[in-house]
Amino acid sequence: MAQRVLVTGGTGLIGGEVILALARAGVRVTAVTRGGSQAIASQRLRDRLQKSQWFSPELLGQVEVLAGDTTLPGFGLTPPLEIPPDCIVHCAANTQFSDREEDDVWRTNVGGAEHLVAFARAHAPRARVVFVSTASVTTGPEGAVVNEDTAFQGYENAYTRSKRQAEAIVTASGLDTVILRPAIVLSRGIDDAAMARSILWAVPIMRELGEVPVSPDSHIDIVPVDYTAQCIADVALAPSLPHRLYHISAGTTSQSFKQLLDAVAAECPEFKGIAPVGRKPLSKRAMARLMRPLENYLPFMNADIRYANDRLLGDFTAIGIPALATSYVPSLVALISLADALTEMVRP
Ligand SMILES: NC(=O)c1ccc[n+]([C@@H]2O[C@H](COP(=O)([O-])OP(=O)(O)OC[C@H]3O[C@@H](n4cnc5c(N)ncnc54)[C@H](OP(=O)(O)O)[C@@H]3O)[C@@H](O)[C@H]2O)c1
Repeated sequence: MAQRVLVTGGTGLIGGEVILALARAGVRVTAVTRGGSQAIASQRLRDRLQKSQWFSPELLGQVEVLAGDTTLPGFGLTPPLEIPPDCIVHCAANTQFSDREEDDVWRTNVGGAEHLVAFARAHAPRARVVFVSTASVTTGPEGAVVNEDTAFQGYENAYTRSKRQAEAIVTASGLDTVILRPAIVLSRGIDDAAMARSILWAVPIMRELGEVPVSPDSHIDIVPVDYTAQCIADVALAPSLPHRLYHISAGTTSQSFKQLLDAVAAECPEFKGIAPVGRKPLSKRAMARLMRPLENYLPFMNADIRYANDRLLGDFTAIGIPALATSYVPSLVALISLADALTEMVRP
């Protein structure tokens, strides 16, 4: 089993939980974290880890922080690593769906993948490289349960295009690589309203709209972050891997948009008024303006796609299926005010 794992993106939603899952497993973690100095990078990571239900101060003893930047050669580490890691888990990314950030999305996700490969070749050529991609590289065929062998297809944006390209770079590297593709990941167990907002900020906006152009029967594949992080840690630490590409997803236990809305309304009655009316052209100008920030998400929500998880569950039998989204989505939505949602909506 790997004794020493380098993790990028540790201040983020998924990377932070991955660090804690690895530390709990007794692994030594090196976290490459942005920050003008070592002290700032360490403080930023500590602030993030402390928000998790899995945090305990003694786990920090397992974690070394290095100030770095994954868009720089050698991840910008000075001096370079003394001891090579047995595994690198690359969670760092620009996850913006908006094409306005296309240049930075490409620099971070594709450039980052190139630096990841070069870094591993130079400093840890025998390390397993775990690349965290996204299930949304494929959003078709609609209405289906798709497996990892399904060709890229369906709606795309700068983010998903960058992830497709990054996967190709990592896979072609000849290193010991594995690609993990989580579905939508939500922040169960993290005490942070900003992380809860990720995609759920849309819910208060939907309440203001009343009608939303999403099919009530469309399945939305969602997994909680603690489950996602455990899957990533298990794959990182597995002595051998039967496959090199896995979904981390709810698959056939994914719930429909209406089931999710009903669960949210049951816990938060103020959200009762949201009516999923299926795909239909937006008419009123004001409504179109309100909907603009949601537009990037609607194709995913209407794709009615579930990402098969039998490969992961078959190869890692201890993992088990994820909790139903209706068991944790309502309490996350409850953390988000309309003011938060509007702030997210107008964020450049
Ligand atoms: N969240 C989801 O629903 C979801 C679903 C499927 C796949 N994924 C994938 O999972 C991975 C993690 O996503 P996430 O939701 O945890 O994202 P996130 O919360 O936005 O975190 C992104 C992380 O990447 C770091 N980062 C960005 N640019 C960097 C750079 N140049 N150098 C070093 N670190 C950098 C950020 O650091 P700073 O704090 O310094 O900005 C942050 O720690 C990504 O690859 C994403 O594509 C996420």
